[in-house]
Amino acid sequence: MVLVAQELPLVCLMLLLLRREPGVDAQAGQDFTVQQPQAKVTVTVGETLTLDCITSGDAGPGPVMWLKGWGSGSKTVYDPNIEDPSSRVTRAVNGSDTNFTIHIRNVQPEDMGTYYCVKFVKGMTGADEFFGRGSGTEVTVQAKPSPPLVSGPEQRARPDKSVPFTCTTGGFFPDKIDVKWSKNGNPMTAQPPQVTQSRMKTYNMSSTVQVTLQKDDARSQITCEVTHPTLPAPLQGSFQLSRVLRVPPSVEVRAEPSPAEVNKTVAFTCLLKEFYPAKVSISWLENGIRIKGQNLSGPLEVSRGLFELRSRVEVQATEEKNGSTITCRVVHDGQAPANDSAVLWISNTAQGGFQMDKGANVLSSLLLLSMGVLLEKGLLGGLLFFLFKRMNRKASEMLPYPAAPQSPAPAVGSQGLATVSSDL
Ligand SMILES: *[C@@H]1O[C@H](CO)[C@@H](O)[C@H](O)[C@H]1NC(C)=O
Ligand SMILES: *[C@@H]1O[C@H](CO)[C@@H](O)[C@H](O)[C@H]1NC(C)=O
Repeated sequence: MVLVAQELPLVCLMLLLLRREPGVDAQAGQDFTVQQPQAKVTVTVGETLTLDCITSGDAGPGPVMWLKGWGSGSKTVYDPNIEDPSSRVTRAVNGSDTNFTIHIRNVQPEDMGTYYCVKFVKGMTGADEFFGRGSGTEVTVQAKPSPPLVSGPEQRARPDKSVPFTCTTGGFFPDKIDVKWSKNGNPMTAQPPQVTQSRMKTYNMSSTVQVTLQKDDARSQITCEVTHPTLPAPLQGSFQLSRVLRVPPSVEVRAEPSPAEVNKTVAFTCLLKEFYPAKVSISWLENGIRIKGQNLSGPLEVSRGLFELRSRVEVQATEEKNGSTITCRVVHDGQAPANDSAVLWISNTAQGGFQMDKGANVLSSLLLLSMGVLLEKGLLGGLLFFLFKRMNRKASEMLPYPAAPQSPAPAVGSQGLATVSSDL
């Protein structure tokens, strides 16, 4: 009993002390609550985030603030004591004692985190002391990817060449993104996309696919389809393969008729088949010398987006043109020229008169040839030359004016020789 009597006042004092603190709260703040009805909020970059906070009860004087994060890393987002007109944060209901909802405009990826609505009370020292907080609102920021852009090679490429195409998009958040490629609606396999973070904390994506071009790709298109949680439907970017395809023409020259009768007209047609793009120029050459031809039309689109073109040139089949080469030279889309040629043949089934002419020619040619050979032999040549000169002089003596002294027989002879050899 002695023990009890001695300890009783101490116990009483402790009980009094214990009662004292709840006693203060019972007067101010016993039923005070801070409610954050939103557990999770998702907001898109650039938009305004609204964070709801309602208090009930009375906790006594002291501000309600918003903090981002809890503990050592926490940051004050809203403090009613600080007036900052440039702040992105404003109260939804100015001056309210119970509604502490705030708006944060132009949300950025770095605004991600958990936000707390916190009640402070004036402590004994006059400083704000923590009193209570809401359960927190977890904010997720997201950003839509920009419309995908597909780029291709700088220069055109021929069929069977494998060329890379790249699809890019950016500004999205979070980084989870999916890319699918297709050609004319058929899926293609691509390398995994590369995702990088930008200075703005959002992400950029680049995906590359190799495409082997085909001759009939002038009407093909490839499509890059991007899927992201922010998108209600995938975004697409596409590329027309006609922008990078070059199909060189096949070039073929035909002569009509062949062989031709002498002095008749021969038509040479140059046919350019299956080329792309339509940009082409044709020139005609006769034994390497330019002649004038005519395109029968502009390039015509015939099949699968490929073009065809015909050009024509008419040549008079004179005897000396027998064996002439007529060339169609094609410059397609600024590339090295492509050629095809046909030979002008003149048929030998000519009439008798023509044959006789030919015979006489041969006879005189033979005569001149033998003379030329003899001249070259020298001895007899000299004699002939002498006789020839004398004959000339005699002839000139009979004329009132002397003949030109220079009519050198060897010159005549060698000319004859030249004619013969070219005839043979
Ligand atoms: C062809 O034409 C040339 C020149 O016009 C003429 O000299 C020649 O006799 C003609 N030949 C024929 C076989 O008609
Ligand atoms: C043209 O040349 C061909 C081949 O050399 C020959 O067969 C033909 O007889 C020639 N035609 C004429 C008219 O000379």
